[in-house]
Amino acid sequence: MILTVPVPLLLLYFFVFLSSSPSLGGTHMASAAHSRRMLSDDGSKRYAVVFDAGSTGSRVHVFCFDGSLNLLPVGDDIELFKSIKPGLSSYASNPEAGANSLKSLLEAAESVVPTALRSKAPIKLGATAGLRLLGSNTSEAILDAVRDLLSKSSFKYKADWVTILSGSDEGSYLWVTLNFLLGNLKSKYPNTVGVVDLGGGSVQMAYAISEKAAKKSPKTKDGNSYVKELSLQGTKYYLYVYSYLNYGLMAARAEILKAIGGLGNPCILHGYKGLYTYSGTVYNVSASHSGSSFTKCWRGALKALKIDESCKYKKCTFGGVWNGGGGAGQKNLLVASYFYDRAAQVGLIDSEQPSAKVKPEAYMKAAKHVCKLSLKAANQTYTSVAESDLPYLCMDLVYQYTLLKDGFDLDLDQHITLVSRLKYKNHMVEAAWPLGSAIDAVSSMSASSSSLSSL
Ligand SMILES: *[C@@H]1O[C@H](CO)[C@@H](O)[C@H](O)[C@H]1NC(C)=O
Ligand SMILES: *[C@@H]1O[C@H](CO)[C@@H](O)[C@H](O)[C@H]1NC(C)=O
Ligand SMILES: *[C@@H]1O[C@H](CO)[C@@H](O)[C@H](O)[C@H]1NC(C)=O
Repeated sequence: MILTVPVPLLLLYFFVFLSSSPSLGGTHMASAAHSRRMLSDDGSKRYAVVFDAGSTGSRVHVFCFDGSLNLLPVGDDIELFKSIKPGLSSYASNPEAGANSLKSLLEAAESVVPTALRSKAPIKLGATAGLRLLGSNTSEAILDAVRDLLSKSSFKYKADWVTILSGSDEGSYLWVTLNFLLGNLKSKYPNTVGVVDLGGGSVQMAYAISEKAAKKSPKTKDGNSYVKELSLQGTKYYLYVYSYLNYGLMAARAEILKAIGGLGNPCILHGYKGLYTYSGTVYNVSASHSGSSFTKCWRGALKALKIDESCKYKKCTFGGVWNGGGGAGQKNLLVASYFYDRAAQVGLIDSEQPSAKVKPEAYMKAAKHVCKLSLKAANQTYTSVAESDLPYLCMDLVYQYTLLKDGFDLDLDQHITLVSRLKYKNHMVEAAWPLGSAIDAVSSMSASSSSLSSL
């Protein structure tokens, strides 16, 4: 009795004392505790500033992460986002003016990052299609002017953080973005999702494979690795990633026109005659007298994809490219960019939905339907399709179907998820590479370089 009674009493005493101490201690003590908590919160906060230098404009994203790499709000939103037009590629003759065009974006970024945290916040710029097409001398001059500007900022700067992104960088970062937003990055590779990103110039496929498969992975024709090693929050991933240059949607149109001829082309909607320009080359285009045909257009798409090109690996996708071996990391595929856009435009999915499940079969059905229409009928039916895209609507859908089914060898009734944005907490976040680039930068802050490296 003597021994057991005082213990609960002591606990009770402590409980009462501890739970009431802030009010007993008065406002001074409470505010000291509060500011101590603020300090430690701020201390684990990490910001990253990512410029996306696209062909039509430049954008800045500022993200903020806590110590466990969760996204924290920046101002009222989940990120700071600001954009300007035109893009850096419009400044070929005046690189300094190009760099200066970013000043307002840089100031906006500075305004949301506390002064004390800026020197630890990486600042990066990734240039995509527009600058890639300018040629290396011109684009390097522009990037050098940008380096000059960013190196003078108060953020953590490295010259090699200002670069032209390769298609496979874009694909890798998008993989990181999507898996991060889905909360997959703490689990092993079989729980991650694969990504297909159909841009205008290129299409990317990225998915995680096992370490064992990675060590045995072959090299590309140019001797590059198909696999990138990625270290995020202490978990290592081996990413199979390949960017098919000239197989983005706008580029593929040109490939199909080259493969089967532009005049009397069976992919062009009945009633159209005009010119198609891609990457400086002009093609004469006209519909066939009998109008477009799903089957004939599909044969053209197969030819453009070089589906029969010899394969020196166990299995290829198309054009003699290794397919990565498949596996659990590719089982669930998220499909982005033009796949989403066209699906929304022809009503395969509701454009209000930020993501939706479909089957490759749906593209086939949509293509079969659209290819029967004349240009005029399509114009009346699909009012959200830009007029310049309209003659190519059958071609685009046939190409998307052929790419999924024959190129990437998906089953017609396999579910894929079309995605433009994903929900993160109460915010919608764009399915795009900048967030992945920010995550890569903050995860590798202690390391000397990017965590993303070729195997
Ligand atoms: C690029 O610059 C190098 C040297 O600075 C020059 O030799 C080369 O001809 C230039 N190339 C183009 C395409 O202008
Ligand atoms: C394309 O059409 C234009 C007239 O619109 C013609 O002058 C040109 O020769 C044609 N080019 C080809 C390759 O047929
Ligand atoms: C499409 O429809 C719009 C108005 O509805 C019209 O102005 C335009 O000329 C049409 N385009 C074609 C290619 O039929």
